[in-house]
Amino acid sequence: MGDSRANFFEHLHPATIPARSAAFTYTFGLGGISVLLVLVLLVTGVLLMFLYEPSLARAYSSVAEITYEAPYGWFVRNLHYWAGQWLVITVTLHMARVVFTGGYKRRRANWLIGVGLLVLVLLLDFTGLVLRWDADVSWALLVGTNLLREVPLLGETLYRLAVGGETVGAGTPVRFYGWHIAGLTVALLFLGVWHIWRVRRDGGISHAAHAPRLSRRALVRVEGLATLIVLTALGLISLLWDAPLAPPADLNAPAAHESAAPWFFLGVQEALRFGSPLLAGVIAPLLVLGVLAALPYALDRAAEGEGHWFNAAGRRAQIVFTALLLIVIALTVRGALR
Ligand code: HEM
Repeated sequence: MGDSRANFFEHLHPATIPARSAAFTYTFGLGGISVLLVLVLLVTGVLLMFLYEPSLARAYSSVAEITYEAPYGWFVRNLHYWAGQWLVITVTLHMARVVFTGGYKRRRANWLIGVGLLVLVLLLDFTGLVLRWDADVSWALLVGTNLLREVPLLGETLYRLAVGGETVGAGTPVRFYGWHIAGLTVALLFLGVWHIWRVRRDGGISHAAHAPRLSRRALVRVEGLATLIVLTALGLISLLWDAPLAPPADLNAPAAHESAAPWFFLGVQEALRFGSPLLAGVIAPLLVLGVLAALPYALDRAAEGEGHWFNAAGRRAQIVFTALLLIVIALTVRGALR
C-alpha cells in the first residue's frame, strides 16, 4: 500500500477506512468541502484585513476601494463572499446527510458540536454582511439586532454587546469587525478542529460494522479531485458574478431603500409577519435549534441503522428534521418572492 511513503494529507486519515465511508455517494464530500470553504475564507479574509477599515467614515469607502481600486481586490472579495454563501448551503446539506444516514448515532457529542458550528456559520455571514456598511445592511442593523432587545432580562446587554453602544453608531463597525474576525472565527476554528478530531475519536465516519476496508490513498485522491473541482467552480463564479455593493448606508433614512434580510435570514424576516418579535424572531429560531440539538437524545437513541440511508430506527428524527427544513425553506422562498 506504500504507507511508509504516506504524505501529509494521507496522514490525516487512518491507514485504512471502510470502503462505504470513502464512497462519494455516502458523504458527498460535504464535510470536507465545508472544511475547504473555511480555509478559502481564512486566506481571503486575511487579505481583506490589509485594506478594510472598521470605522463609520471608512467602512463603506474601504470596501469600495477593495472592489474598484486594489489590484485583484474585487476577485479576493468575490471569493470571500461566495465561499461564505456556499458554506451555509454545504453545512446544511452535510447536516441533512448526517440525519438521513443515521450518522449522529453513537456520535451525539459531535452532533452538538455540529449544531454549534451551524450557529457560528450563520452569525459569521451576518456580521460579515454588516461590515459592508452599504444600504443592504439596514435590515441587519435595524431589525436583526433589535431582536436581541426582545430577549427577557438580558436583552439590553446583548444589544449593547452586539452594536457597541446604546444605539447603532460610531462604535458599531469596529464591534462587528471584532466579532467577525476574532470572536466568532476563533470559536469556529476551535469547534471545527474539535469536530474533525471527534470524527476519528468516534471510530471514523459512521458505517456498517463489517464493511470492506480501503487504502487511505484512494480517499486522498478523491479529496484532491473534489478540491480541484470546488476551487475551479468558486473561481469561475467569482470571475463572473460580483459580490453585491449597494450605495452607502444611511441609517437615518432607512425607508429610502428597501430593507430586506440577507437570504439566509429571510425565513426569520418572514416569520416576523406571523407573530410578535419575541415569539417569531427569538423563541421560534431558538426552538428550531433546540429541536436540532435534542434530535439524537429525544427523537432517536437507537444505535441500529447507523450508516444506512433512511434507516427505519431513525424515522422519527428524519421526519421531524425534514419538516423543520421544509418550514425554513418555505418561509425563505416566501420572503424571497416578496
Ligand atoms: C463548518 C461546519 C462543519 C464542518 C467543516 C464539518 C466537517 C465535517 C467533516 C469533515 C466530517 C467527516 C466527513 C463527512 O461527513 O463529510 C463531519 C462529520 C460529521 N459532522 Fe460535520 N461539519 C460541520 C457542520 C456540522 C453540522 C452543522 C452538523 C450537525 C448538526 C455536523 C455533524 C456531524 C456528524 C454527526 C458527523 C459524523 C457523521 C458520521 O459519522 O456519519 N457537522 N463533519
